[in-house]
Amino acid sequence: MKIKSIRELKNLKGQRVLLRVDFNVPISKDGQIDKSEDYKIVQTLPTIKYLIKKGAKIIILTHLGRPDGRVVEKLRLDPVAVRLSQLLNKGVYKNDNIVETGQAPSLRKQINELKNGDILMLENIRFDKREEAGDKNFAQELAKLGDIYINDAFGVCHRDQASVSTIQDYLPSYAGLLLENELKNLSAAIDKLLKPLTVIIGGAKISTKIKLIQKFLKIADHVLLGGALANTVLHVMGVAVGKSLVEPKMYPVLRKIKLTDNQLRVPLDGVMAKSYQAKVGRLDALADVQADELILDVGPDTIKLYEKIIKSSKMIIWNGPMGLIETPFFAKGTKSLVRLLAKSKAKTIVGGGESVAIIRQLGLDKKFSFISTGGGAMLAFLEGKKLPGLKKIATIK
Ligand code: 3PG
Repeated sequence: MKIKSIRELKNLKGQRVLLRVDFNVPISKDGQIDKSEDYKIVQTLPTIKYLIKKGAKIIILTHLGRPDGRVVEKLRLDPVAVRLSQLLNKGVYKNDNIVETGQAPSLRKQINELKNGDILMLENIRFDKREEAGDKNFAQELAKLGDIYINDAFGVCHRDQASVSTIQDYLPSYAGLLLENELKNLSAAIDKLLKPLTVIIGGAKISTKIKLIQKFLKIADHVLLGGALANTVLHVMGVAVGKSLVEPKMYPVLRKIKLTDNQLRVPLDGVMAKSYQAKVGRLDALADVQADELILDVGPDTIKLYEKIIKSSKMIIWNGPMGLIETPFFAKGTKSLVRLLAKSKAKTIVGGGESVAIIRQLGLDKKFSFISTGGGAMLAFLEGKKLPGLKKIATIK
């Protein structure tokens, strides 16, 4: 893999650097960012500090949520700028615009007044509908604001969007330190596989992860499923799942997979409740799920089975929770899994916002070999897809 890294740039002093990051983090109702949720911001600090040290003028671009090309007040970036400023212990300027609008306060003027090492965050890039359309004119307008483009937004590199990929046609483009680190670690997960390899996949929808499951069924020793996505598989295997979330359009695809093989494991037991709002549930074997129940977590027998497999593995890749983790009662399965992985001597590679947040809530992040900032991007990379965000930055063999 060849990466054009920020470290190749010899003279950054006084240069206006457009730094695309992925600060798409959950904002709480009171407009704060929880400590367990700021991983993506924390992981970009090395790049930002590097740019400050080199005397660059840093202009930060990021999206937050999916505002669909219009201004959504609760998706403004002010809390994100505050969190970044706290983490850096340094002021961060913020402009409520994304490109020069001709209206005061002028963005161009604010950029001209930046001193070396200053940081300016522009408003949520997805407030402009041209971002997600990958619009060339928008990318050119953005490009005019800087001299160099740095992509440190691994989490959004699977999107072909103006500030992620199109802009690379108009400015010299390089990878930031986070992006470089992600590419090196995740490539190792594919190129330097350690066996036995176990892949654990959870989350809501099997349709978003089926390609990954199919790919790893070819190379992994074990594929363990959990979360609502396992329900669709259970249904196809003939296990009643009550009124749990299933994706009927995936039945034909799943019927082509050898589901009875021990290589692919599904939960044995679960925690059931009658609604998503339930605060507690009842534990039972999956064979005994009632017609009016939802499966909201995996149970201890499943964890025991998965523990045995985890203990015998040399490499483990995990993406997606085992249950409805927003409700503490249904987060127990995922927490047990985190503790098992943290104890394991295997190389452990994890990604996906919810999995990472639980690991950090438990204070176990240091116990993992690599924690990716990517959810969908990590899946796309591991599936072997070409990432648009790497267009002029990295060539992957
Ligand atoms: C993510 O959180 O996975 C990234 O920020 C990408 O967000 P998106 O799925 O809305 O493009």
